[in-house]
Amino acid sequence: MQEDTIQAAVDKILEDFDREIDRFRNLESESTIVLNAKSEIRELRDLEIQFKGKKGRIATDLPKIGSLDPKTRRESAVTIQKMERYIKAEIAHEIKRREAIERQLSYERESIDVTIPGRRPRPGHLHPITLMRQRIDDIFVSLGYIVEDDREIETDFYNFDALNIPEGHPARDPQDTFYTTEGFALRSQTSTVQIHAMQRRGAPVRMIAPGRVFRRDTPDPTHNPMFFQVEGLCVDRGINMAHLKGTLTEFVHRLFGPDTETRFRPSYFPFTEPSAEVDYSCFNCGGQGCRICKHSGWIELGGSGMVHPNVLRAANVDPEEFTGFAFGLGIDRTCARIYELDDIRLLFENDVRFLEQFR
Ligand code: FA5
Repeated sequence: MQEDTIQAAVDKILEDFDREIDRFRNLESESTIVLNAKSEIRELRDLEIQFKGKKGRIATDLPKIGSLDPKTRRESAVTIQKMERYIKAEIAHEIKRREAIERQLSYERESIDVTIPGRRPRPGHLHPITLMRQRIDDIFVSLGYIVEDDREIETDFYNFDALNIPEGHPARDPQDTFYTTEGFALRSQTSTVQIHAMQRRGAPVRMIAPGRVFRRDTPDPTHNPMFFQVEGLCVDRGINMAHLKGTLTEFVHRLFGPDTETRFRPSYFPFTEPSAEVDYSCFNCGGQGCRICKHSGWIELGGSGMVHPNVLRAANVDPEEFTGFAFGLGIDRTCARIYELDDIRLLFENDVRFLEQFR
């Protein structure tokens, strides 16, 4: 190949290269470069290979230097080397510009401005049910009760049999619960803790047991399939119904105010005899009737009664020596009354806008 033919081929390669590199020379704006810097650096490296690589334009469009006659060889080599240096330098220059911008930006991103006010952490707070439980615990602890905590998965024995509800007893129906493995179920009432506490501590015993219970109840404004109860149990020599009435009256006085009245209505629970439903006069209207008490003047607190002798026996306590009273109150509904909620389901929807009102 003649020297001028080589020069023409070199010129053609340079012309093509310049056209390609021109795309990178005109930096539009810093922000576009920043967005594209990484991919443009890759493209520039590819461009270099496209021209200077083993199978690149220089290797394929030009003859091997060794095949030229000695005179042409020297001059062509100089021309080709000059072109290679030019391409290398141009590519390196464009890559450098992009790397510099990237570096600058990452400095800015990573630097900390200590003068900017910090983001305030949003502290959590107690759930309204927990607040309610604490108020209840405080009252009973001050009356000399201990607070028991116990299992939520129970055997039939503790949830029913020991509470004088044998298999086939109709009282099992309204407390249908969720069964887990054979022989175990989620407790449907905190009354299970009466048995555990007496087995553990014997008599006399005075305890409350707040906790979660489960029933196959369809959710509505006053029902949830998971809710909280607080159980109370007082077993000693000579305990009678007057102690039960006195204790619950004191409790509502402390919770709702000293003018609150209590009312005991005859009821039935297999584990107490006699049994009573406990109501208290509405804290909002004082018994006159209002929206909160559904215009009856009274609000239901829960169930209560004198511990059935069979229950004492099931927990190895001698009913000839000891008697006792027990009660079970619904925490969710009491909480809903106090905070004027018209639907207890709100308590477990985990809506932060609702829960934040209880700070
Ligand atoms: C009982 O569960 C008895 N164990 C209470 C008891 C204990 C009586 C000791 C005698 C001696 P009852 O099923 O009525 O009773 O439930 C007690 C309270 O739980 C109710 O007054 C109510 O406030 C609440 N409750 C019952 N079912 C639900 C439910 N699905 N959702 C929310 N609260 C409920």
